[in-house]
Amino acid sequence: MTNETQTIQIAIDGPAGAGKSSVAKVLSKRLGCIYLDTGAMYRAVTWAAMEQQIAFDNIEAMTQLLDTLELNFKDEDGVQRLYCNGIDVTEAIRTPEISANVSAVSMIPIVRESMTAQQRRIAQGADVLMDGRDIGTTVLPEAQYKFFLTASLQERARRRGLELEAKGQAVDYAQLEADIALRDKKDSEREVSPLRQAEDAELIDTSHLSFDEVVELLYHKIKK
Ligand code: DC
Repeated sequence: MTNETQTIQIAIDGPAGAGKSSVAKVLSKRLGCIYLDTGAMYRAVTWAAMEQQIAFDNIEAMTQLLDTLELNFKDEDGVQRLYCNGIDVTEAIRTPEISANVSAVSMIPIVRESMTAQQRRIAQGADVLMDGRDIGTTVLPEAQYKFFLTASLQERARRRGLELEAKGQAVDYAQLEADIALRDKKDSEREVSPLRQAEDAELIDTSHLSFDEVVELLYHKIKK
């Protein structure tokens, strides 16, 4: 996967709740490049499989699902929304139920093949910032800028919890920590494209940084 057109490619990977998506949204606007939330794509596949009551290990049915699945990101009033076969799934893919099942779906090789191909197509000929788990290692190995964002488990759970509370959901912090740790374990231990820091990615521990500080830090590293 070479980047022959010399567009700008930025890869931000890291574990759940490290703040990748929030940082990526603001940073991509400031840099004027396309933002692709690859986690949302895996969540949408999970949502569609659950809607259609497809068992994740039924590879034939999963293949059929992927063949007919159309994912579209649309900017509406400055907010990026995700449509799955014409249905707005922006909120539906963020439920604890989807979070609990998404790792099982994202470890299926045909799911990864299909998502990776779509992600590379979107990156062709455009300046792009992608966040996920395998962007620097697999999807865009030639990206000029690669960051691996992390934070302590407690801090990541605290941030996720605050987000959920802001949406009016009740939060059990001990449970949230356990859920995040389990998802990281599954994402790191899967065979195909596991969550891993690319050798040439810069590790950024955001445990003691504010959101604005992280955005500034990455912005200046890229601008330099
Ligand atoms: O970033 P997120 O928490 O919304 O991602 C949801 C899940 O999707 C995550 O637990 C693992 C999977 N994922 C992946 O396997 N590869 C990516 N590039 C992005 C996400």
